[in-house]
Amino acid sequence: MMRETVSVLISAAAIDDRLTELAAQIKEDYGDKPLTLVCALKGAVIFLADLSRKLDNNVEFDFLRVSSYGDESISNGAVALSHKTGSLKDRHVLLIEDIADTGHTLVFLRKHLMSMEPASLKICVLLDKPDRRQTPDAKFDYLGFSIPDVFIVGYGLDYAQRYRNLPFIGALSFEE
Ligand code: IMP
Ligand code: MG
Repeated sequence: MMRETVSVLISAAAIDDRLTELAAQIKEDYGDKPLTLVCALKGAVIFLADLSRKLDNNVEFDFLRVSSYGDESISNGAVALSHKTGSLKDRHVLLIEDIADTGHTLVFLRKHLMSMEPASLKICVLLDKPDRRQTPDAKFDYLGFSIPDVFIVGYGLDYAQRYRNLPFIGALSFEE
């Protein structure tokens, strides 16, 4: 029987500090423009909740959900939407995503969101695993943390739907 062990990679306090910096950066770029924060379910919900509360802009929330076919945890490039947002036409859209891994999800979401004719589109990701990238087109505008190739849980991210409620970002490992 394998035992799952979670070790703290980024503490709750370090996340909070980084989100304060990100919010300041966003504020500098957008000024007082109204923003539509589009959260990619489910992994980005905690990030959305915490980051949005550090912004004093007029903010709307919307949600979409991506499913990748094939392996549960590793996307193979085949991505589809299982929940769509409302109209984003002429909105300043900031996509909130949990992690850039292979990058296929970000490529798909940028294309999809651009087809909704927003006034502008930027992408904010909490975590980046550059060593895992499979496409050069997975670009984003704001980043929380760049991390090594370890499996992450907590702060919204799951393993088999568990651990999303951990207040920190953890590395998951398996032991006999
Ligand atoms: P992509 O490979 O960049 O398309 O990422 C697809 C999705 O896989 C991400 O949005 C996450 O939901 C999930 N994912 C990737 N790496 C991890 C991880 O280390 N822990 C938990 N979920 C992950
Ligand atoms: Mg995700």
